[in-house]
Amino acid sequence: MKIAVLPGDGIGPEIVAQALLVLRRLALPLEIEQAPVGGAGYLAAGDPLPPSTLALAKAADAILFGAVGDPRFDRLERAKRPEQAILGLRKELGLFANLRPAQVHAELASASALRPEIVSGLDILIVRELTGDIYFGEPKGIRRTQTGEREGFDTMRYRESEVRRIARVAFEAARKRKRKLCSVDKANVLETSQLWREVVSAEAKNYPDLELQHMYVDNCAMQLVRNPGQFDVIVTGNLFGDILSDEASMLTGSIGMLPSASLDASGKGLFEPIHGSAPDIAGHGVANPLATILSAAMMLRYSLARPDAAARVERAVAQVLREGYRTADIYTAGAKKVGTDEMGAAVAARL
Ligand code: IPM
Ligand code: MG
Repeated sequence: MKIAVLPGDGIGPEIVAQALLVLRRLALPLEIEQAPVGGAGYLAAGDPLPPSTLALAKAADAILFGAVGDPRFDRLERAKRPEQAILGLRKELGLFANLRPAQVHAELASASALRPEIVSGLDILIVRELTGDIYFGEPKGIRRTQTGEREGFDTMRYRESEVRRIARVAFEAARKRKRKLCSVDKANVLETSQLWREVVSAEAKNYPDLELQHMYVDNCAMQLVRNPGQFDVIVTGNLFGDILSDEASMLTGSIGMLPSASLDASGKGLFEPIHGSAPDIAGHGVANPLATILSAAMMLRYSLARPDAAARVERAVAQVLREGYRTADIYTAGAKKVGTDEMGAAVAARL
């Protein structure tokens, strides 16, 4: 099994190193090759997604990704900015299905910004469409209007086939869980959402055993903090999913805990923590590596067909949390405060 490892920027290299430690401890036949991406790609090759990095990602069975983003490069033209690397990988590899689980580990319920009784036992899966919508819709740009004023514009668009395939992923996921799917849109205002809702409803006829609900995105944002326990699987478009998944992550206590999988039609995927490169804490050895370690577990489950190994990693993470190991982002009084390396080593030792 060939794995492309793209650590990226900021805390990316530190947290990916811990995930690799954990993967190596499993002693699976993995062939691991690293390549620069994001700001690191720009420094190495003048391109956030160097052609050699893209080629490696295409040739691999799975991709383990750290994070991209570096304030040093924020002033570059858009095509050279670090974020273009992850957008390019998603598009080039057809990674249309983004799975973002938000689970509250019992030990961390008190680290949430919400009261423990509201978040304890929480287990939501956000299925975010990842290669369409206003992120990629053309035309987009900044133009001069007739009055000489500048105007920025983007295009929100979804084709039926794009909605149908992400809906199927979400229905299938719900079937393996509590059988409840909530489709989120803005159908009271947007034509794109109107079509989205029609297509999801039509697809639901193939899943009569599941419960489908539609919800407007503003209401969903509110319901997520009011009563998050009502959700099982949420399916939504690229932009709404970006926003709602950050919100859902905070319910769990730390964005540093949440993994994600971005899959293509055949199950090949890119696996990354949902947090960013956190340049403010990069190099201090304090970043939480658990989201990346759990992303590696998702990689074992979804792309490498090793659910047994995935479960071992997840159990080891749960165990270190039970034993009280905490990085700064999830620390509460009385726990064992550890840095990035100690946390990674603790998980690896429990495999
Ligand atoms: C995410 C990130 C990206 C996105 C950025 C870095 C382009 O916020 O993965 O959620 O907007 O999709
Ligand atoms: Mg985001």
